[in-house]
Amino acid sequence: MRQAGRYLPAYQAVRAKVDFQELYKTPALAAEVTAQPVEILSFDAAILFSDILVIPEAMGMKLEFSEGKGPRFPQPLRGADDIGRLHHPKIEVELDFVLEAIRLTRQRLAGAVPLIGFCGSPWTLATYMVEGGGSKEFANIKSLMFGQPQLLHSLLENVTAALVDYLNAQIRAGVHAVQIFDSWGYVLAPDDYEEFSLRYTSRLIAGLKRNGVPVIYFLRGRGCGLKKLAASGADVLSLDWTIDLAEARQQIEDRVALQGNLDPIALLATPEVARAQTKKILAKMVGASGHIFNLGHGILPNTPVENVQAVISAVKE
Ligand code: CP3
Repeated sequence: MRQAGRYLPAYQAVRAKVDFQELYKTPALAAEVTAQPVEILSFDAAILFSDILVIPEAMGMKLEFSEGKGPRFPQPLRGADDIGRLHHPKIEVELDFVLEAIRLTRQRLAGAVPLIGFCGSPWTLATYMVEGGGSKEFANIKSLMFGQPQLLHSLLENVTAALVDYLNAQIRAGVHAVQIFDSWGYVLAPDDYEEFSLRYTSRLIAGLKRNGVPVIYFLRGRGCGLKKLAASGADVLSLDWTIDLAEARQQIEDRVALQGNLDPIALLATPEVARAQTKKILAKMVGASGHIFNLGHGILPNTPVENVQAVISAVKE
């Protein structure tokens, strides 16, 4: 999950020397912080250190990360002219630093654990591109959706085409699985989710030359319903804590594996609490055709490392 490293002193030590953008644009440093959680805490997989917003940046948008404020696009897309100025990125050129980070991370991990690549979903990226950053009401993107749906569809098509090339390049560079983050889909009504989010994520998945690489589809909430999500083409649905995994299993009839779904706030309490909450989730998945234990969303920077350790040992036991 996002910000995996921020609770780790080893990550903070690297970050004290470079800002976030320099960190993910420098392959040797990105590989270093990708490997840290695996080497220090024995996670069963590594997730590439990067950000979902490198795609809008490669399509021509200026991107800023300011301390404590999160990502911002100072010139958000507000009309057809803005959208028309975006270009289709040449991944091997503009995002070569990501591909190089994948190659270096694979060398460093030396086959010990798999490496997960990722991207944002078309809808979630479009949301950032139109809003210019995080949002409470999502009034800009929703106004576009209700007022000029065709314009939004054309933006989503362009972003999807870029993402197909991007994930295929990550797969060629050597990632063992890919995860698609639909972090902002939960603000949509189910019908709109199906039309403006699921449709494009499904197209993205269909465009992948997978060679056996599994696809994990992360979302918050239940989108347009678990049955439809399970038919997206993904191998794994990654759910948050608002959905009961036992109930989810029944609905999807074990057709895809499930990932999740501990509330990251449970890791702010004590190791005993973190452990008990973890065991509760594992109990719901006994006998399932597949479960990847994970948090339901990103870990918070002020999480005590010993609580993370308690979760990991509870899962490994
Ligand atoms: O888990 C990992 O650390 C892997 C790398 C990763 C990052 N971002 C690094 C990061 C991944 C998988 C992401 C995905 C991402 N980025 C998402 C989707 C997942 C989710 O959380 O819903 C989203 C929405 C973003 C956009 C983004 N980037 C946000 C909202 C923020 C947080 C801003 C803040 O300060 O709270 C970022 C910054 C970011 N991305 C950090 C990291 C490690 C923090 C950078 C730092 O200050 O060191």
